[in-house]
Amino acid sequence: MKIILIGYMGSGKSTVGNQLSKILNYNFKDLDTEIEQKEEKTISNIFSEKGEIYFRKKEGDILKEVVNTNHELVLATGGGTPCYGDAMRFLSESEQVVTVYLKASLPVLTDRLFLEKEQRPLISHLPNKEELTDFIRKHLFERSHVYSQADVTVTVDNKDTSEIVEEIIAKLF
Ligand code: S3P
Repeated sequence: MKIILIGYMGSGKSTVGNQLSKILNYNFKDLDTEIEQKEEKTISNIFSEKGEIYFRKKEGDILKEVVNTNHELVLATGGGTPCYGDAMRFLSESEQVVTVYLKASLPVLTDRLFLEKEQRPLISHLPNKEELTDFIRKHLFERSHVYSQADVTVTVDNKDTSEIVEEIIAKLF
């Protein structure tokens, strides 16, 4: 099986994916890290030097390559990955792929992202928590129709990583 974690920035895709892969003894990959290694640049530098359109193209290409060349895989995607090009269609039509949406509420995302916004080019310029909340509210609204196409949804508020991992396993196996 190829378990693809999708969800907004700060929803815990990398942390949950890492732990899930250890329990299942699957390969773990983080799409942002794959992109950074291939491009030999940080995500922030790709955005600033080459622009978002270039990033989205690479993101879509590397998604397909990772999914097509790995089995027994847990993949943490970037928050925008399923929302661009034909990525969501590709995932839903690929054999062995199951998509899992990690769903976090607006207050939880705002609290988490306020502490870690610097490395994230889409939100690093937002000066305070109010503007960050407004940005996330609108952005999440635009993206939710894609996230909600996932095969499985797990809410993450007030749960620790192992509870989320157990819930995913219970829903998939
Ligand atoms: C993005 C999310 C980021 C990263 C890039 C764009 C997005 O990944 O891919 O900064 O469009 O939501 P995380 O969800 O891992 O922060």
